[in-house]
Amino acid sequence: MGVSLKETLEDETDAIQCENDLFSYKTKELLWLAEQLGLDSSKSLPSHMLPEQVADLIDNLRNKLAENSENEGKIGTNKKRKDRTSNTGSSKQTRSSNIIEEIQNKEMVTSVKTNDTNMLSIDAIKEIYNKFWKPSYKSITPREAYFIQEGIIKCKPKRFLEIGTASGISTGLIATFLGLNSGNEVVTLDLRKTLWTDHTKETGFLAEEICKKDVIITHITEKNSAYLPEKYLDNKFDMAFIDASHQHPWPTLDMLAVLPLMKEGTFIYHHDLALFYNRNQTNARGIGPKYLFDQMPQSIRFVAPFGGKNIYYIITPGNYESLSGALIDALYLPWTLNNKIPEPNFMNYIDIAKKYWDNNVVEALEITFKRYNPAIA
Ligand SMILES: C[S@@+](CC[C@H](N)C(=O)[O-])C[C@H]1O[C@@H](n2cnc3c(N)ncnc32)[C@H](O)[C@@H]1O
Repeated sequence: MGVSLKETLEDETDAIQCENDLFSYKTKELLWLAEQLGLDSSKSLPSHMLPEQVADLIDNLRNKLAENSENEGKIGTNKKRKDRTSNTGSSKQTRSSNIIEEIQNKEMVTSVKTNDTNMLSIDAIKEIYNKFWKPSYKSITPREAYFIQEGIIKCKPKRFLEIGTASGISTGLIATFLGLNSGNEVVTLDLRKTLWTDHTKETGFLAEEICKKDVIITHITEKNSAYLPEKYLDNKFDMAFIDASHQHPWPTLDMLAVLPLMKEGTFIYHHDLALFYNRNQTNARGIGPKYLFDQMPQSIRFVAPFGGKNIYYIITPGNYESLSGALIDALYLPWTLNNKIPEPNFMNYIDIAKKYWDNNVVEALEITFKRYNPAIA
C-alpha cells in the first residue's frame, strides 16, 4: 500500500498544539464561569489539574450558572439540544433496526450493574495512570477509559479493534477490561512504529505492561485503517475504538473501513468529539469526530454524559450500509486536513468503497477528493 507518512507526521505536531490550546481555552472558560458565579477563582484553582477534572468542574459550574439564570427567569427551561439526522444520500438509511431499539430500551450504559469482580474501579484505573501516564502520551482520561469499560461490561466483546494506539495506555486498559469480561483479543493499529510524541519508544509499549490478563494483544503498525478489511473481514470485531487522526475526513474514512468488519448491535467509540471547540485554531482541524457524529442518526449515537463530553459511541446497525448516507454527508463537508492525503493512500479507501459500499459512496469519495484535496496546502 503506497502510504506516505510525511504529511501525517506533520499533522500530528499540529494536533498536539491543538490539544494544548484546547486545554488553555477550557481553563479560561473555567475562570470566566467562576467569575460569573462570584467565586474567588484565584483561590479555588489548583496550580495543575487533569484535563478531565477541569472539564468536570466546567460542567458543574455551567449547570450552576444555568440554574441561577433559570431561577432569575433569564433562561427558558427547554435546554434540550435538537439533534438532526442526515436527510440526503442513501434511502437505505433507516433510523433503526430491532437490535438498536432493543439496546435503547435497556438501561443507559452509564448505569450498568456490575458485581465488582468484572470491573476496575475508577480509583484502580487512576492508580494505573499514576504509574504509567505522561501528558505527552495524549491518551484518553481515566473517566473515559471507565466509560469504555461500561460498554465492555454491557456487550461482553470477545474481540476488540482499536485504531490509534500511541503509548498503549488505552490498549492495555481495554485489554484488561476484556480479560475481566471473558474477552480474549485486542487488535490495535497505528500509523507509526514509534510513539508519535517520543520516538525513543515503540508504539504500544505500555499495553502488555498494563494488561496482566490472558488477552492476546495484536499490534499492527505503519498501516492505516485501509489495511483492515482485507485482513479481518472473515473474523469480525465485537467492539471498536477510533482515536487516530481527528482531522476531517479521517474519522469518516476510518468508519468506512471499520463498519464492514463489525458485528451488529455493538459499539464503535470515537474520541475527541470536543476538539473542534479550540478557539485558537485558524482552521478547525480537529473537527473530524464532530462532523461524523453530526451525520449519524440520532437513534444510534451517544455522547458520554460527563466531563468535556469528549467521547461518544455509535451502535452498529444490522445493515452497516444503511449508514452510507451519513458517511456521504460527512465526506461532502469541507476537509480540515493540514496536508493532502496522498492519492495512492486515498485509492485504498475507494477500493474499500467499491467492495463493501454502494456506488454513491464511491462517487462521493471521488468527487470530494477532487474538490477538497488539491486545495489543502
Ligand atoms: C491520540 S493518539 C491515540 C491515543 C491512545 N488511543 C490512548 O488513549 O492512549 C493518536 C494516534 O493515532 C496515530 N495516527 C494518526 N493518524 C493515523 C491514521 N490515519 N491511522 C492510524 N493511526 C494514526 C498516531 O500515530 C497516534 O499514535
